[in-house]
Order: sequence, then structure tokens, then C-alpha cells
Amino acid sequence: MMKRSSEVSGFYKLSPEERLKYVAEFAGLTEEEVKAIAATGSMKIEDVNRMIENVIGTFELPFGIATHFRINGEDRLIPMAIEEPSVVAAASKAAKIARAGGGFHTTSTEPIMIGQVQIVDVPDPHGARLKILEKKEEILALANEQDPVLMKFGGGAKDVEVRVIDSPRGKMVIVHLLVDCRDAMGANAVNTMAEAVGPYLERITGGRVYLRIISNLAIYRLARARAVFPKEELGGEDVVDAVIEAWAFAAADPFRCATHNKGIMNGVSAVVRATGNDTRAVEAGAHSYAYFKHGHYGPLTYYEKDSDGNLVGTIELPVAVGIIGGATKVHPVARAAIKILGVKSARELGEVLAAVGLAQNFAALRALATEGIQRGHMALHARNIAAMVGAVGEEIDILVQKMVEMKKVRMDIAEELLKELRSGK
Ligand code: MEV
Repeated sequence: MMKRSSEVSGFYKLSPEERLKYVAEFAGLTEEEVKAIAATGSMKIEDVNRMIENVIGTFELPFGIATHFRINGEDRLIPMAIEEPSVVAAASKAAKIARAGGGFHTTSTEPIMIGQVQIVDVPDPHGARLKILEKKEEILALANEQDPVLMKFGGGAKDVEVRVIDSPRGKMVIVHLLVDCRDAMGANAVNTMAEAVGPYLERITGGRVYLRIISNLAIYRLARARAVFPKEELGGEDVVDAVIEAWAFAAADPFRCATHNKGIMNGVSAVVRATGNDTRAVEAGAHSYAYFKHGHYGPLTYYEKDSDGNLVGTIELPVAVGIIGGATKVHPVARAAIKILGVKSARELGEVLAAVGLAQNFAALRALATEGIQRGHMALHARNIAAMVGAVGEEIDILVQKMVEMKKVRMDIAEELLKELRSGK
């Protein structure tokens, strides 16, 4: 019996198989569990091993397609990677309703990210601010030396902003490099540039440079989507009012708003994940923008009624995503997801994200404001339960229908129903 220790020196030097063997012994994994972890699906273990550290296998998620999306007059199938039932179905349903009103109309800003440089111990912060702005061209040139490829594609550092902030440690001078990242998410390019301009900024300000890192509050990399949800498709003007009422709750209450925005991100993050992008970057951007935009935490969407009584939904959110580099390049399914979407630029992908976020939010509000969210969830949950007790084919449909009718979705009930069904009762 080995000693159970998490202090494994040189764990990183082992092969994935050797590491998995160690973990299996440590945790007493069965052969089946080891096999499940070791299975790599679409990826080669060498590639997985290069992506992160201490790899022992891969982790799979369902990969589904939301249908009915029409964005700027073009039909799109939306790949989603997510563990939560109902998200794909809800997005598809919302897109179908939006389609009847002409689909989603989207726009976006240039793909500009902010790189921050923190300067402390500056004797004259406001003087330093202007000195930095006087040297803007020099700073941009220094930054742009770092990434000739980005420059070639028309990207690169485009502008400099300087803020003086009051911190618990006194005044700090914060420099923002505004970098056009083109089709990359841009974290690498931006961080490299922010680091490169550090010494020069110290020289001209007389202060000390500390952090040099991208900001996820990407207020200059926004995507927007608008859709009209026709009142007839919604079930009448009452439902239009109900959705607006539900939205107003989020606009007035941070407790509700967190869930409102979470629902938006159900769709957005599923697509971000499916395309191999950084879900945390986009989530951080979305929630911090939800604060920034209103001066308090507020919803990323708006709902209003047009002069015909139809529901008008809009969304605006930061979208720090790319279609080149990182996992978007090495993950075969992520690459295929980008092909399924048919997006040719990071901006286009961002606009799809905005449309999906609006669809997801609309679907949630409509369900919440009318039948409640559980009915849809319950049917899916019932399918899982029915399959778990051994129902097959038609039996599953019958059990689902009965359990939903009974409003009781439980293993014991499913077992009972299956027994009855099979005994011909
Ligand atoms: C569940 O994942 C998402 C919802 O809670 C979103 C919302 O309440 O708006 C349904």
C-alpha cells in the first residue's frame, strides 16, 4: 500500500499515463474510472499534455447545436458545449421566435483590448499623466515592435489612455494601451506589449511599474444584438408585458440581476467554450461591464415594446474572443465549431455571441414569466430518470409523459411506472 501523499515531487515530469497511475493508486480508482479519464476523444494525448500542466486525461462535455438562428440575414447553426439541460432547446426556441420578426441584427466595435500598466510612487501623478500622453507615439511604437504579425494584419497598439486613481496605497498612475487584436483574443499580444513599455514609463514618470496585464473589462470590444419578438409568436401582448416586467425586476435588484445575467451567459459561455475560447475572460468582461455601464450592477439586456406592441430586445456586451491561436487552433472540435458557425473573424464570432446571449435571456424570461422554468427542465430531467431505471425506446416517452403529468420526477416513481408498463397494466 503506497503512502497517500499529495507532495509528489517531479509529478510534472511524468508522462500522462504515469501520472494517472499515481492518481489511481492514491484515490483507489477502478479500471473503468482510469479508462474514462484516459480516453482522449478527438484530441491526441500529446496535444492535451501541451495545453495544461500535469495532464492525466481529458474531460468531456455534451456538444449540441442550437437551431433557427438568423443573424444579419444569414442562417447559422450554433455549436454549444455545456452540461446544463434546456439551454440548447431554449436558445433554439427563442431564435425561432426572433426569426419570425426578422432575426437578429448585430454590430460590433473594432476588436480593441486594454492592457494596463500600474505605476506607483509617482511624485506628481497628474504631471506624469500629461508627460505620458506627450510621449504617446513613442509608447505606441515600442509596443508595436513586439508584434509585427499583428501589425501586418492591421492590428497593434492604437492609443494610450492615462488615469490617476485613488487607491488604499495612495495615488497611482494607470496607463491603458489600446490594442487592436484583430482575430486573436489578444491576451498574449497585449501582455507582451504592456511589459515592453514598462521601463520607458518608469523613466518618464520617475515612478515604479508594477502590474502589466490585460483588463477583462473590455469596454472597447463590444458586440451588440437586437431582435423583435412578434407578439403573436409570444402568445399575445400580455406575454410581452410579462417579459418586460421580468426584465425590470433585474434592472432594479442585484439579486435577480445576477441570475438574469447568468442566464445570458448560459448561452454565451456555451459557444465560447465550444469554440475553444476563454469562458472566464468573457464572463468577467460581461459581469464587470454590467456594472460599468450602469454605474451599478445591472442587466446586459433591455426590453421594450415597439409601436405595434411587439417585444424589442437588445444586448451589448464585451466579447474577448478569437478565432486563431490557443485552444481554438489545437482543439479539433473547437476548430470544427468555428467552421459550423461559419464566422470569418473574431468580430463576427462576438456578434454571434451577442445574438445567442439575447436569445438565451429572452427564452429564460419568457419561461419564467409564464409557465415557470421547471416545466421544460422537468421533461429533460424525466428523460434522464427514465433512462436511468432502464426504460428504452417508447417506454422513455411514456414514462416522461406520466411523470411530468404527475409533477413527480423521481427514480422510485419511474421504477414503479416501468414495472406497470411492462406488466401490461
Ligand atoms: C438557469 O441556468 C438560468 C435562469 O435562472 C436564468 C434566469 O433566471 O433568467 C433560468
